[in-house]
Parts: sequence; C-alpha cells; structure tokens
Amino acid sequence: MRLLAVRGRAYPSDLNPAGTVFGGWVMAKMDKAASIAVDEIVFSKFVTVAVSDLHFKKPIRNGDIFTVYTKITHIGRTSITIHVDMEVKHHVSNREYPVTEAAFKFVTVDDQGYPREVREVLRSELPQYVRELV
Ligand SMILES: CC(C)(COP(=O)(O)OP(=O)(O)OC[C@H]1O[C@@H](n2cnc3c(N)ncnc32)[C@H](O)[C@@H]1OP(=O)(O)O)[C@@H](O)C(=O)NCCC(=O)NCCS
Repeated sequence: MRLLAVRGRAYPSDLNPAGTVFGGWVMAKMDKAASIAVDEIVFSKFVTVAVSDLHFKKPIRNGDIFTVYTKITHIGRTSITIHVDMEVKHHVSNREYPVTEAAFKFVTVDDQGYPREVREVLRSELPQYVRELV
C-alpha cells in the first residue's frame, strides 16, 4: 500500500545552475517522507543507514508541485526499508509522472544509538500489510 507522505512546490532557491532542482534537495524530501512512514509503525528513535537504487528519472522545475509516496517493503531484525517515489504534477494535463525513486533503509536505535529490534518497538495498531512483513 502506497501512502502520500509529503507535498510541496519547488522554488527558485531550490534550483541548480542548470535550472532544475538540486539532487540533494530531492533526497532530503524523500528522506523526511520515508521517516514519516517509519514513525507511523514504531515508537522508537531511528536513523538512516543506507539509501539504494536512487534514480533521478526526470528533472523537477521551478514551480512544479511534487508529491512523495512511501511504501514499507521490508522489515528486518533491526531495520525497516521504505520504497520512496517522488512524482510531479504536469501543470497543463494535471497528470502525475514519476521523477525520482529510491529505497531508504532505517535502523531502530536505543538512547545510546545502538540497533534495537524492530519487533520490540512496533506500535500496537498496524495496517495488515505491515503485520505481514514482520
Ligand atoms: C545505523 C547504525 C546504528 C547501525 O549500526 P551497526 O553496528 O552497523 O548495526 P548492525 O551491523 O547490527 O546492522 C543493523 C542493521 O542495519 C543493516 N545495515 C548496516 N549497515 C548497512 C549498510 N551499509 N547497508 C545496508 N544495510 C545496512 C544491517 O543489515 C542490519 O539490518 P537487520 O538487523 O534488519 O538485518 C550505525 O551504522 C550508525 O549509527 N550509523 C549512522 C547513522 C546516521 O547518522 N544516519 C544519518 C542521519 S539519520
């Protein structure tokens, strides 16, 4: 199940010298969106351990309205992986098209920053598809 996590618009200060949005800006939005998805299923602190399969498919331009969608794809012993898609709405057709995707992996950690088991910190109310991943 794909969830809408973050929406917003690109502004001139977000652009690189080529006139499209900076990759780091895109990654920050995706990281924050993924972290919201993790927050919804655990009550623990967590940190990003890895980002993989990052693919900038299309540029984002000034004024574009973007939406970031997240999907929990894997729950390991101490890690949670989120597939993140960013899409942009075409200003004329109003149709969304994919611009960037990646997999963000987080590790649940204790107060000292050491990994802790995801199972111990899962929220009691979880969507069925998340239960099936545990
Ligand atoms: C995340 C961190 C706590 C993991 O500690 P660690 O001692 O490497 O932990 P482990 O080796 O026990 O691995 C923990 C989990 O992370 C996964 N992992 C560790 N390194 C990884 C890597 N490079 N790529 C993918 N997964 C990785 C392991 O597979 C394991 O998952 P599992 O328990 O679900 O099987 C530690 O690396 C850390 O603090 N990193 C810095 C985090 C950070 O500052 N992020 C940026 C800001 S949020």
